[in-house]
Amino acid sequence: MRRQTRMQGLALAALVLLAAAGLSFAAPDGPPPDAANLWNHITTQSPYTQWKNWPDHQGMQPGSSPHGALHVVYVNDAALSVRQPPVPYGSIVVKENYDEAKTLKAITVMYKVKGFNPEAGDWFWAKFAPDGTVQASGTPGGCIGCHSAVAGNDYIFLHAF
Ligand code: HEC
Repeated sequence: MRRQTRMQGLALAALVLLAAAGLSFAAPDGPPPDAANLWNHITTQSPYTQWKNWPDHQGMQPGSSPHGALHVVYVNDAALSVRQPPVPYGSIVVKENYDEAKTLKAITVMYKVKGFNPEAGDWFWAKFAPDGTVQASGTPGGCIGCHSAVAGNDYIFLHAF
């Protein structure tokens, strides 16, 4: 009986440690850095369509390959009124990518997570189909390689701080 209690205690301690390890990875009030959680966060918990656009990049704008002919960029509150790069942890940038006919083709996301990838600005990258299907996530070489051109602007092309 006593042995069983000790085992339960150990199991509980292991669970607490696991939970703490998971939490220490996430931004204070952001989702854990994986694609399913991020999608859930930006569509259900805090729908990005209710976020704002950067003041210097409002509404639908022309874009370039590989992202699509037109786009709209939404940012959460953490990223909105930053005066100079880098943006704070917890910042999320959501880019809707449209073709010439204004059909939504993909949603690309950058999510700043403390300790996630310090070599490249601690960004978690994700690409979703409009229905939420994950097409890329984590630290895709393509996203990082190209956005590194603006590493000095916290890997962000479309906003001048
Ligand atoms: C070949 C270069 C290139 C690649 C690869 C690329 N991007 Fe971009 N990205 C850009 C450019 C240029 C912009 C500015 C908008 C535009 O021209 O469409 C941009 C804009 C963005 C933005 C809006 C914030 C900003 O930087 O202005 C997000 C979010 C984004 N990209 C995410 C991604 C993700 C996620 C991937 C990988 C799945 C990716 N990008 C791959 C070039 C690239």
